[in-house]
Amino acid sequence: MKLDARALPLLETFGLRADNPGVCLGPTRWRGAGPTIASINPANEQLLARVASASAADVDGALAAASEAAHAWRRVPAPQRGEAIRCFGQLLRENKDALGTLVSLENGKIKAEGDGEVQEMIDIADFAVGQSRMLYGKTMPSERSRHRMMEQWHPLGVVGVITAFNFPVAVWAWNAMLAAVCGNAIVWKPSPKTPLAALAVQALANRIAETLDLPPIFALCVCENSLASSLVEDARVSLVSFTGSSAVGRAVAQTVAGRFGKALLECAGNNAIIVATDADLDLVIPAVLFGAVGTAGQRCTTTRRLIVHRSLIDTIVARLVAAYAQVRIGDPLDQQTLMGPLIDGDAVANYRRAIEEARAEGGRIECGGRVLSQPGYFVEPAIVTGLPTASKLVQRETFAPILYISAFDSLDEAIAQNNAVRQGLSSAIFTRDVRAAEAFLASTGSDCGIANVNLGTSGAEIGGAFGGEKETGGGRESGSDAWQNYMRRQTNTINWGSELPLAQGIRFGEP
Ligand code: UN1
Repeated sequence: MKLDARALPLLETFGLRADNPGVCLGPTRWRGAGPTIASINPANEQLLARVASASAADVDGALAAASEAAHAWRRVPAPQRGEAIRCFGQLLRENKDALGTLVSLENGKIKAEGDGEVQEMIDIADFAVGQSRMLYGKTMPSERSRHRMMEQWHPLGVVGVITAFNFPVAVWAWNAMLAAVCGNAIVWKPSPKTPLAALAVQALANRIAETLDLPPIFALCVCENSLASSLVEDARVSLVSFTGSSAVGRAVAQTVAGRFGKALLECAGNNAIIVATDADLDLVIPAVLFGAVGTAGQRCTTTRRLIVHRSLIDTIVARLVAAYAQVRIGDPLDQQTLMGPLIDGDAVANYRRAIEEARAEGGRIECGGRVLSQPGYFVEPAIVTGLPTASKLVQRETFAPILYISAFDSLDEAIAQNNAVRQGLSSAIFTRDVRAAEAFLASTGSDCGIANVNLGTSGAEIGGAFGGEKETGGGRESGSDAWQNYMRRQTNTINWGSELPLAQGIRFGEP
């Protein structure tokens, strides 16, 4: 296989080579006795580098090392843990360009989005630094005299983080930065489709661990998906954070529940934008373009459905088709490019199947729908009209730039369409009418974890809790109070009197 000449100089900035061990138990402890994984540039199908994945024994070793590290780390005061993450954020700032380029090279998202992903890591690092001084518990009045009640949050131990190819570094950071300030050790199983980005992040984590002489709280375990089950099954892993399909998420949740562990799930989305009659179309068109075409339709927050007031359908379709015609498809590192390739041949096959199914079900392909005949996994972004929300195709998440447009007559009907899928991640409405906006946000409105007004479904900031309902899995990561996922709550009652009153006024064994 031909080598991509751009890879090696970039990899070297992170101390990586053409052949790399894919398991790391802390600075200088690299290994990997499992099968070799080739990382392929999806834009030209050339080899970027090879990674030796984990054997079963390597996974076991990583969990043992992480458990040990967790014991030491929980003794370190939380604000000092935050200081380590502050340094990590600084190192990410210094390496933003290189890491963003590597993400772009390996994942195929355009450079601006690769950089954006690293920025998301920096943002969550900053957030976690502040959080390290705010791991607040409540105090509550006791019903007993001379008693005090309070709660504390303690570290869980080892947190397993399983991430997908589409956000090869940011989603790890959402979990790892918070989990670290909360006092945990983290074992990361990245997607075997994007191991190099993970190796680069691990190299940075090692630099921090080495400089600050931290216990090895960041461990990496590149492995085939089949081996990930050992991480999910292992009772040493207190929390499994999983990003991926709903089918695998369901299996993860069941396995983890079977051993009374905790699971945090970020599974499929099937996100819609409602365009009301009074929407500002100058906002709608770019929002849909970014939401549906950005990241080549491979975000879990990608706009997959557009629910448009019937009076606007023709205008919207015409304007979107014109906007899609301007989308430059090509090398993600070229500044002019707006859409890079899909991740691999399977993704292209899924795209092709979805387009064929759309035609067979009577859908109209308004634009796009072709696979480009050139090296790399390039497809055209497509717009499909005429399919009911209930159709099997619209019901499932196809990880590709395909947008289904449907019509509505009343707002109630639009909201019903928004909610009529099994997934519940992100949603949006474009309207100038405060009543329509509020109806969308009300308890009777969107049933999604994210609901926006006059902006699209994707590109959330880190400050909010990120996640969704139904088959999206119910987890919340990143901002707000998501840090609580990585800690266990302990309720404490302290009696500072010289009597032993019982709760509920119970008298026991007294005359
Ligand atoms: C994902 O696609 O798994 O809101 C995460 C967004 C990004 C994160 C997406 N901040 O689109």
